[in-house]
Amino acid sequence: MAEDKDITCCVKACDQPLDKTYWNTQWENEQIGWDIGYAAPAIVAYMQQYPNKEARILIAGCGNAYEAEALCDMGFKHITLVDIAPKAVLLLQEKFADKPEINVVLGDFFEHEGQYDLMIEQTFFCAIPPGKRTDYAQQARKLLSDKGKIIGLLFDRRFEQQGPPFGGCPCEYKPVFNPYFEIKTMDLCTNSIKPREHQEVFIILNKKDNE
Ligand SMILES: C[S@@+](CC[C@H](N)C(=O)[O-])C[C@H]1O[C@@H](n2cnc3c(N)ncnc32)[C@H](O)[C@@H]1O
Repeated sequence: MAEDKDITCCVKACDQPLDKTYWNTQWENEQIGWDIGYAAPAIVAYMQQYPNKEARILIAGCGNAYEAEALCDMGFKHITLVDIAPKAVLLLQEKFADKPEINVVLGDFFEHEGQYDLMIEQTFFCAIPPGKRTDYAQQARKLLSDKGKIIGLLFDRRFEQQGPPFGGCPCEYKPVFNPYFEIKTMDLCTNSIKPREHQEVFIILNKKDNE
């Protein structure tokens, strides 16, 4: 059960680039300690009240993408999954072979092209080096439609070891997103899974109109 696992310290210190090779090796070696085994309840709860089932949804750095299964069950029809690791993508293509609602893409989020109404964040932001956080915000903004938003979870804690995962706090995240997104919510998550209780914030970031 996820409750028994140390899901925060997923991969240990590394001095190598966090590129396709790095991530694929994690997948090949089944070093996926971040994987909670099901969709995060906070994301499920948010999406259960999200009215537009036609929304184009992006989950980047999706891993096993349990959220995508939950979204299908809720009736969402346009879900795109992006992961840089070929092994992860192979698993997803097998798992979702009978789900036309789900489009699985092998690729780098930072080079991905498309147009989405909603981006779901779940332990992808913490997987990228902190120096790329502004790139993440800019790329998310580029990929989102005018009223688009990012929703999901960000860690609100530090990690002893060098990441990934890379921790942080709202006071660091806000200046990153502020130029591009209106920060509607970045508050303590009240329905985190037990091992992440009091260690993550739920975010709702609305793309700004004018920038
Ligand atoms: C910490 S895991 C999280 C996976 C999943 N979101 C979850 O919560 O179980 C990070 C994932 O992002 C993928 N990834 C890392 N860098 C990426 C990039 N630049 N573009 C797309 N995917 C990336 C990795 O292969 C890995 O599956």
